[in-house]
Amino acid sequence: MSAVHVLNGPNLNLLGRREPAIYGTATLDDIRAMLETRCAARGVSLVFRQSNHEGDLVDWIQEAGGAGAPVILNAGALTHTSIALHDAIKGAEACVVEVHLSNVHARESFRSRSFISPVARGVIAGFGPLSYVLALEAVFENELRKS
Ligand code: DQA
Repeated sequence: MSAVHVLNGPNLNLLGRREPAIYGTATLDDIRAMLETRCAARGVSLVFRQSNHEGDLVDWIQEAGGAGAPVILNAGALTHTSIALHDAIKGAEACVVEVHLSNVHARESFRSRSFISPVARGVIAGFGPLSYVLALEAVFENELRKS
């Protein structure tokens, strides 16, 4: 594994000031920095992206899948709506760990449905920025098991 792709969907650019009681005060840049340190320690490069547009995420999942690079995906609200992301993961055979800052199952019922989970390698939710760190650990372990 030479790179890990961390892809973030709609409204995650607002982290730090978006509903802090739910999402905390860390910004997306803070999360990027946490992951960057851990990737650097392993000699793995980090591709860290955010978009408010579904098509960008589709393109990036296809790119990562095509490169055989693992993906950590927080699709934001698209998690609960996007068949396009589901199809992209399946079509590109991307190895995806689905992450959420909040525990989506303890919130509104519409957040319990995920179009990503059935095509994800695993799911981590509810630990704030630590969800991303745990997902990265899972990616490292998963890759080790393959080699
Ligand atoms: C989220 C949970 C989603 O339900 C929500 O739409 C988000 C963020 C999370 O990280 O907790 O935008 O994915």
